[in-house]
Amino acid sequence: MLLHLIKVLTAYKPNEFSKKIKKQTKVKHDQIESHPFIKGMLSGELPDFKYAVYLNNLLPIYKGVEMFLFNKRNTNSDIVQSKKILNDINNYSNFLNVDLNQDHLLFYRDWLNHFTTKNDFYKKSELYIRWLADMYGGQIIKKNIRFGSKYDFVDIRGDIKFVRQLIEDGLNSQNVDSFIEEVNISYDYHYKLVERVYDATIEPVY
Ligand code: HEM
Repeated sequence: MLLHLIKVLTAYKPNEFSKKIKKQTKVKHDQIESHPFIKGMLSGELPDFKYAVYLNNLLPIYKGVEMFLFNKRNTNSDIVQSKKILNDINNYSNFLNVDLNQDHLLFYRDWLNHFTTKNDFYKKSELYIRWLADMYGGQIIKKNIRFGSKYDFVDIRGDIKFVRQLIEDGLNSQNVDSFIEEVNISYDYHYKLVERVYDATIEPVY
């Protein structure tokens, strides 16, 4: 595990803009990282049902990123996360015997509306948060997740490079601050989702 983490952390040397993004979004990263929902994922105490609802709400965001940002030219099937997530959701649905697509369990709509208003460049703020979360924190979280194919990457070092380069492509001193603003907004949507799923009194309907 330790060796794996070292391999992950040393996969890529970020450029000056990546470094700036990391620095200026650290407060939001650490805020969500210390939320009891995420801590529960880390300790294995988060109920399966809540994790499944969380996944189901993230799926449209992943699909949106893939639809707009992954094209034939830059296809890398190892980072097509929506397929893995669908697989995990199906496994949870069967395991819990629950329909996750009930209205009161779907919280992502305002987030998705905001996402669709952004141009492709700023849509990368979601690529940044979601994919790097899976590739870094996800590698620590996955050992306590029942169905975690979302965190499996065949060539994680190559995939980190690929995603980081996609993000860095087009970043410059003129747009980096607006990009950071979008990343921070995305973190707020993540936080809101985590709060909702954590606080909701949701029970499986058998
Ligand atoms: C227990 C939960 C988590 C742990 C232990 C964790 C840990 C980490 C670690 C070790 C890194 C690499 C930092 C480095 O390069 O020095 C990282 C990066 C990152 N994590 Fe997390 N994380 C967690 C949760 C999250 C969550 C919930 C999100 C977003 C929803 C997230 C988003 C990110 C992003 C975007 C990066 C890339 C930062 C950058 O290099 O620019 N993480 N995380």
